[in-house]
Amino acid sequence: MHYPWWYVPFLTSPMLIAAIATIHIFVAMYAVGGGMFLAVEAQYAHRTQNRLYLAYLHDHGWFFILLTVVFGAITGVGIWWTIGLASPLATEALIHIFVFAWAMEYVFFVVEIASAFLFFYFWDRLPPKTHVIFGYIYAVSAWISLVLITSITAFMLNSGNWTEAPSFWVGFFNPEFIPQTIARTGGSILLASLYVYLHAALRKQTEPEVRTLIARRSARPALLGAVLVTIGGIWWFLALPASAQAALAAAPSLNILMLLILAVTGIIFAMLFLGPYRNPGWVTPGFAILLFVFGLAAIGIGEFLREAIRKPYIIYSVVMSNQIYADEIPQLRKTGYLEGGTWTSAYVAEHFPQAIDAQGTIDETALLALSPEERVEVGELLFLYHCNDCHSVEGYAAVSESTRGWSREMILAVVKEPHRARFFMPPFAGTAEEAELLTDYLVTIARPFPAGLVNGSSD
Ligand code: HEC
Repeated sequence: MHYPWWYVPFLTSPMLIAAIATIHIFVAMYAVGGGMFLAVEAQYAHRTQNRLYLAYLHDHGWFFILLTVVFGAITGVGIWWTIGLASPLATEALIHIFVFAWAMEYVFFVVEIASAFLFFYFWDRLPPKTHVIFGYIYAVSAWISLVLITSITAFMLNSGNWTEAPSFWVGFFNPEFIPQTIARTGGSILLASLYVYLHAALRKQTEPEVRTLIARRSARPALLGAVLVTIGGIWWFLALPASAQAALAAAPSLNILMLLILAVTGIIFAMLFLGPYRNPGWVTPGFAILLFVFGLAAIGIGEFLREAIRKPYIIYSVVMSNQIYADEIPQLRKTGYLEGGTWTSAYVAEHFPQAIDAQGTIDETALLALSPEERVEVGELLFLYHCNDCHSVEGYAAVSESTRGWSREMILAVVKEPHRARFFMPPFAGTAEEAELLTDYLVTIARPFPAGLVNGSSD
């Protein structure tokens, strides 16, 4: 409405963000935990003058830089592209609120890149002490980046009392900030160990004794990471707004994912304890791959849950999931959703000039007087802007499927009060006339009642 709408068929554009963000997180967390691993282990290897281990760490450093700096940076920019296109209003709001945090984040990002290159490319040319210091500079700045970004994503889930006291620090220290920071720090340490096991197991030139050393030395941090993820996760749940907790309880698919994430975390614990911790020799390529896949699954499910419960707000209390400010809904219900947006009103003016009155505003009654085909076209416009953030036409959460076999009255009732049908849908932000037009469109795409079922009608 305030921005042009980006239509992504089947998936819906927010799901693209979720997909790219999840892939990015897999690498971004390793960028933090892997940095800690390299700094701590390089220090240990220098101190014990273990040449073999140092050689392995150098080899790992190459893999680390390639993955985190190249792949991590590309997917990071990918997130900016997709959020800018798919969630423009939320992105704008976050930039206004958090510009200071992003500025700090970029500073630490530059420090991160510079120290990573110095640490890796000057591996043998620096005195051990200086070398290790660069490792720690990298690890600390990468962790600070994590903290800054986590605060912003945590704010989206629970903005706390920011609406009453809209200042940077109130937003920064939102109720989800500490639990998410603990969970993500733990996740980074855990995931880094899994990457290390995978790399060490698959690289043929890793000496057996180095492999055992790695399995042993990384087991405790990995277990610590898993403990932090569990503590942070429980706290995260308790700090959720009531609507998000209710959303987790209400959707069967999310119930299953919650159980799944508990089960996967349990399996990871057991594998880490029985494998690297008790029997370092167990860390074969197969074991390492399995553990790694479980790790990615746990993080992927966690991220999906975080996204799935961010409804009906994309930024809690501030921006609704369908890219309008929460506080403009009452006004839009009076003056019209289409009229309220730069792009929607321009669309109507260009395609249906007969619905524009002498003052240049949209005449709602004239909209209703359009031909049936034109009414459907306006209804589709309303659907794209108002509902397509969460529902595809045909594909992910297809509205044509959720209205299968529904009567016009049933559809109209949900359109007028979507939040009463499902509390995680934003309220309808348009006039009664607009509700009729949106219903016109939905009726044309609703699937028929499935054949072969008793449908209660007499024909
Ligand atoms: C914040 C995301 C979101 C938005 C925006 C949204 N919905 Fe929904 N809606 C859902 C979810 C989640 C469900 C439950 C799962 C499903 O049926 O797809 C749902 C369910 C539905 C259902 C089935 C309700 C039932 O009782 O079975 C209909 C119909 C529907 N939505 C229509 C709409 C329409 C029309 C709009 C736009 C005016 C809209 N939704 C906007 C998330 C949303």
